[in-house]
Amino acid sequence: MEDSPIKKCLFPAAGYGTRFLPTTKSMPKEMLPVVNKPLIQYGVEEAMDAGMSGMAIVTGRGKRAIEDHFDINYELEHQIAGSDKEGYLREIRRIMNEAVFSYTRQIEMKGLGHAILTGETLIGDQPFAVLLADDLCYNPEKGVLSQMVELYKYYRCSIVAIEEVPKEETNKYGVIDGKEIAPGLIRLSNMVEKPKPEDAPSNLAIIGRYILTPDIFQIIRNTPPGRNGEVQITDALMTQAKAGRVLGYKFKGRRFDCGSVPGFMEATRFYFENVYKEQ
Ligand code: UTP
Repeated sequence: MEDSPIKKCLFPAAGYGTRFLPTTKSMPKEMLPVVNKPLIQYGVEEAMDAGMSGMAIVTGRGKRAIEDHFDINYELEHQIAGSDKEGYLREIRRIMNEAVFSYTRQIEMKGLGHAILTGETLIGDQPFAVLLADDLCYNPEKGVLSQMVELYKYYRCSIVAIEEVPKEETNKYGVIDGKEIAPGLIRLSNMVEKPKPEDAPSNLAIIGRYILTPDIFQIIRNTPPGRNGEVQITDALMTQAKAGRVLGYKFKGRRFDCGSVPGFMEATRFYFENVYKEQ
């Protein structure tokens, strides 16, 4: 895809990843490998497939491995140059040639909304995508961000990817309510962050793919901390939703919640059997 109106993708990657302790004590959750590739690389590839070339990464303490991953390792490259092992680095080299990476740090973990606001300096005044790398999305024909960019071209408003989840799991997600305006497309009227099943307005959960219009930054600045004292992106999105400017999109594909151990194991098994090719 070439003429994408969305040029940059923001990766909030500052979270603690407590569900993967002790691994995540010194290693970022986003660097966990699904088979032989770290989660964040899958995310970057999905963004590139959707026509984006600017990768804006919000990191935090102990996340330096992410920056090193998207950089040249001279010693290693020198060692394997000319050998049959060079092929292992082909994909990551292409990414480094074709995408531009920028980084900023979230000093205090004050929630996803705050992480997105921290990334404003890297994004500027343009619509952008947000990708949470621990939600790994599989669609070999058309990635989820590509699907969302297509929609953005037509609707020109914020779009969140949604998925039906079991009712008893609504307390893990932002849950939406709204009116279906086309098959699989809902104009949002309400969003609740991590509701108990009995309080959830539906079983449609927001997953880690967003397209946001840049007015969201000012809205986040004006949004007081919500649940757990964190600045929630769902609270900020409510302001846009009240003006009819947020769509929920039931994406096509399969999502793995790699932020949880069972989801991560499922993804590993699936990718090993269906995606991984021995080099
Ligand atoms: P999670 O809710 O998955 O939190 O954050 P977490 O810290 O990564 O993982 P657990 O729950 O402790 O195991 C959702 C996404 O938002 C980012 C995280 O990096 C993750 O991609 N995030 C969250 C931030 O960047 N900053 C924050 O302050 C909070």
